[in-house]
This record gives sequence, structure tokens and C-alpha cells, in this order.
Amino acid sequence: MNAVADIADYLKRHESKPLLRFISCGSVDDGKSTLIGRLLYDSKCLFDDQLATLASDSRRHGTQGENIDYALLLDGLAAEREQGITIDVAYRYFDTDERKFIVADCPGHEQYTRNMVTGASTADLAVVLVDARKGLAVQTRRHSFILGLLGIRRIVLAVNKMDLVGFDQSVFEDIAAGYLELVRPWGIEQVQCIPVSALEGDNLSTRSQRTPWYDGPGLLEYLETVPVDDRDSRAGLRMPVQWVNRPDQNFRGFAGTIATGEVRPGDPVMVLPSAHRSTVARVLDAGVDCAAARAGQAVTLTLTDEIDIGRGDVIVAANDPPQVADHFAAHVLWMDANALLPGRPYWLKIGARTVSATIRAIQYRIDVNTQQRSDASRLEMNEVGYCELELDHPIAFERYAESRALGGFILIDREEHATVAAGTLDRALTPDRDVRRQPLDVDQVARARIKGQTPRVLWFTGLSGAGKSTLANRVDRQLFARGYHTFLLDGDNLRRGLNRDLGFSDADRVENIRRVAEVARLMVDAGLIVLVCLISPFRADRALARSRFEPGEFVEVHVDAPLAVAEARDVKGLYRKARAGQITHFTGIDSAYEAPTNPELHLRTDSDTVEGLTQRVLDYLQLK
Ligand code: ADX
Repeated sequence: MNAVADIADYLKRHESKPLLRFISCGSVDDGKSTLIGRLLYDSKCLFDDQLATLASDSRRHGTQGENIDYALLLDGLAAEREQGITIDVAYRYFDTDERKFIVADCPGHEQYTRNMVTGASTADLAVVLVDARKGLAVQTRRHSFILGLLGIRRIVLAVNKMDLVGFDQSVFEDIAAGYLELVRPWGIEQVQCIPVSALEGDNLSTRSQRTPWYDGPGLLEYLETVPVDDRDSRAGLRMPVQWVNRPDQNFRGFAGTIATGEVRPGDPVMVLPSAHRSTVARVLDAGVDCAAARAGQAVTLTLTDEIDIGRGDVIVAANDPPQVADHFAAHVLWMDANALLPGRPYWLKIGARTVSATIRAIQYRIDVNTQQRSDASRLEMNEVGYCELELDHPIAFERYAESRALGGFILIDREEHATVAAGTLDRALTPDRDVRRQPLDVDQVARARIKGQTPRVLWFTGLSGAGKSTLANRVDRQLFARGYHTFLLDGDNLRRGLNRDLGFSDADRVENIRRVAEVARLMVDAGLIVLVCLISPFRADRALARSRFEPGEFVEVHVDAPLAVAEARDVKGLYRKARAGQITHFTGIDSAYEAPTNPELHLRTDSDTVEGLTQRVLDYLQLK
């Protein structure tokens, strides 16, 4: 039998046993591998990691069909795997007569903080290991803080290597007391401290004779008896719609996994964010009508009314709906090698919904080791910040502390499609200014019509000295001569006025480009053809600029010359200064230029003439 069938078989055999998922935190030095190994050994049921990989492969290749237990192994942040972040989390399975267990075993070092996010995203509890000889370590603080952030409400503190401190009660009690003190502020409700020796088996599967002063359970006994959280089924109904099932005219069902609560035919429901109301007609589980379904079940609902519902909407109990908002305070754990810069747009994926989101500001950074707060204008990999987040569409949400499904999100890079952050929504913010868009009686179309032109922005990007200004000026002259109403926004000129306060740090460049994009937007609204000349070295910022315009309005023109050519030209003498170290953050020298991957126009100024390139721009605009 192959391994996929093995695991299916395993899950089937143990279907009726409750499942407990936990994450183990600590390092090899603390004895973590020994501890996990011992649990597996004592339960006499060894399943290895390859099963997890195979199960995930089988899921990706769509063979799982109706087997819901597969999802249990793979939900959480599975999206990340698809997006190529290598996550070193080993999942292990074992079971006893009482329960089956899935352990997410994560590496301990700080650079693996993001791996913990994956492991913890589905865990019911965490086992945190400390070495009795060393007590609480920086790593213990970090792990526990991240666990709290990720909504883990129960922790087992396994004080290991008790044999090496002579099973001394006071050593154990000091560590336990210090730990309770430490985690109290982080919303961790239940802590069980257990003195163990992983190596010698004390207080693991049996209670040890050598700790007569300890009257609590052994680790396995605790894991077998701790209540599995039933909070999810007690809360109001929340079901994110994964897809709309419409096989024919007569059937329209909304499929998804119930995140919290229960649902029955006849229940009044509301659909968010639209707030349309209806009543549940049928509840189908794998095509079969059922009288009720609860949290964790994948079902299809039909409603009594024809209302517009799409993927990503959330069906909720009508008498207890969550809030809807588009502006949040959230904890963000940054996971990408490129720093988080406020102002950049990302995709935000929450439940089944994906929307565009921008971090407006970092209110403070939190040191994961000391929990100290500090000011920050960026977040580096594995750093945590408390941030203001703005979405371009409202979403139904709950605080992460109340609902992982409606409060936990990931951010995805728009160009690379890689997961760059995991975050938890804390609360909705009302923008401080109550500003609404005022409708204008004369709109862009009308303004453009009297000018007889199609408003657009031509966004010239490229290295300093590539020829952006030369080319844009030439195009501008040609357009002007033909009677078009244009305006040229040049980076150097704007930096003498509107952007006088900005330098060349990454953060200042983000703001520079944002402002220029807004000005260009206004000018396009005024009916003009706008030419923008900015190095605009970062893809994400050009994507932000593009996102301010309608399809077709934004024309990205890559003015391309090899660095050596631009440097040899050195019209302003700046390359020389940069090489000499007199100016810093100079694009191409000590700051990167990310070339466009798919510009509307790619113009090479080292091999073509200005006349020829000017004509190509005019041709693109379909002007003679
Ligand atoms: S951008 O990167 O923010 O788009 P922008 O196009 O506005 O840059 O300004 C670039 C111009 O500023 C260059 O043409 C050059 O004349 C001048 N400049 C001065 N210092 C720098 C620097 N460190 N990097 C790039 N350009 C600089």
C-alpha cells in the first residue's frame, strides 16, 4: 500500500477519536527531539513526515475529494507552500486509545519564527520546552510571545532534564512561577507546568516516582485529557464561501467550511459584506441533506432567496453578525527578506477572500525577544509590528483572539506571489478624518471630450542617465505640436517643490512615487495626457502607481540603457560622486533598480535613436 493510502487508512481507523493538534517549541539542546521521539515511541505508533508531504502533494493534485481529514493536516497556511516559501515544519502523527495527535515540530532559532506561524496556525495547544538547568531563556520568551500572538490559549511548559537537577522541587517551582508571570499579559489562559526527563521518561507516559512533590498529570495524560476547544462550535455561525456551486438553473449552493457555530435549515442568515438577509433552505454534507452542521464541517448551503453571493463572502448568523470594516490595527509578522515598507500595496488573503491592502503606518515595532516597543519605519524579516492596515474593499472580520478564520490573514507580494507576512486583526479603525468622496458634476470623460483626447499617464522609468527626461520632453513637444493637452512631471523638478522634504531612502522613494502618482491621477482626471519621469526603481511602487488608474490609462515605459552606458554619460556627474562615496543610495550603485517585467513599452536608448523611440511612443498612442 502506498503512503497516501496509508494515511487515509490511518485517519479512517481513528476517525471516531478526537484529534488534538499541538506545536512543540524549543531546541534540540532543550531535549525536544528526545521528548517527541519518546512520545512517539511510548505510543508505539510511528508515522513519519513523508506522509505529510505526500498528503499535501495529493491534496495539491486534487485527489482528496471528500476526505475532510486531509484538510486537517494541511489547512492553515497551506497557501505559503504553493507560493514557494520553504517552511521547515515537520508534522508527526501518533495516537493512543483516547486520542489521535498531530505534532507540528518547528525549529527553535529566531530565523525560524515564520515557521512557527505555520505550525501554530492550526494548533490547539503548544508544548514549550525549557532546560531545568538553564530556566527561562530568551527563546522561551520569544516562542511564548509568538504563540500568544497566534491565538494559542493553552501551553504546557515542560521543564526538562529534571534528572540533571536532582528532581529538585524548588528549581521546578521557580521556573514555573517565572513563566506564569511572563505569559500572563499575552492572553494565554491555561498553563500546565510539568517536570519531566525526556531522556529517562519521567512524567511522560507515566507519572514519575522521582517527583513525589508533583501531583499533576504526566505529559501524555494531559494531552489525552485536556478539553479540545469547543469554543468554535459555541460561537455564532461564520462560514466563508469557498465557491458557488451552480450545476444547473435550479440549484445554487454556497460551499465552504464552517469556521464557527452551527447551522440548520430555517436559520436566518446574513451575507457579508453586502448585509443581505436570507434563510437557510438546505444544509448538504457531501451531497446529502442533513439536519445540522457545525464548526469544522465542509458543507454546501442553499438559501431561500436569490441573493448575490460570491467567493470570499461570509455567511453569518443574522442575529449575531461580525463587524465589517476596511481599516484596521493589526499585528504583522514580517516573513520576507525584503523589508516591509509602509505605503506599498499587497494582496491580503483572509478566509476565502483576497483584497488589495496597504500598510499605512507602523505604530510600533515589538522586539520578539524582549517585547519592548520601539518606533519603526520598516519591518525586517521575522520582526513583528503593530500596524495600520487599509483595504480597498470592506471585509467581515473578527478579532483574531475570537476567530482565527475571520481575524487571521496573510499578505502576498503582488509581483512575486510569495507570502511576505502573517498577521492578526486586532480592531477596526475609523479613519481619523471623516472624509467622503464628493461627486463632481463634470467628470473625466466630459473634460477629455472637449480636449478631443484620451487622458493617460506615460510613466517613464529607468536609471538616472538612461534618457527618460530627454525622451519624455521630445514626446511632449510632438504631442503639444499636434494640439494635445499634456503635462510633464519630472522627478528632479518635483523634488525642488512638492517633494522637497524627501530624500532617497527606500521609504522616501515610496512616498515620492505615491505623491507623483496622485498628482498624475488628478491630471488625468482633468483630461490631460501626463508624462512622468521618475527613476521609480521598485516594482512594487510602480504597481502602486498603476493601481491608481483604470486599465489602459497607465502606460509603463521602460527607458533602458545598461548601467555602464548611463554611467559613462553621467550628465549630472552624480555617478562619479556615488562611486566616490560622496552620495549614497544612488540607484544602480548602492541602491537597486528593479527592471519592469512587462512594461507596455521597452525602449533601448543605447541602440536606438531618440527620433525612432519618440515615434514608437506616438505609435503606441496611435497618434501620427
Ligand atoms: S526616485 O527614485 O524617487 O524615482 P527621482 O526620479 O524622483 O527618484 O529622482 C532622481 C533624480 O534625483 C536623479 O535624476 C538625480 O538627478 C537625483 N539624485 C540625487 N541623488 C540621488 C540618488 N541617491 N539616487 C538617485 N537619484 C539621485
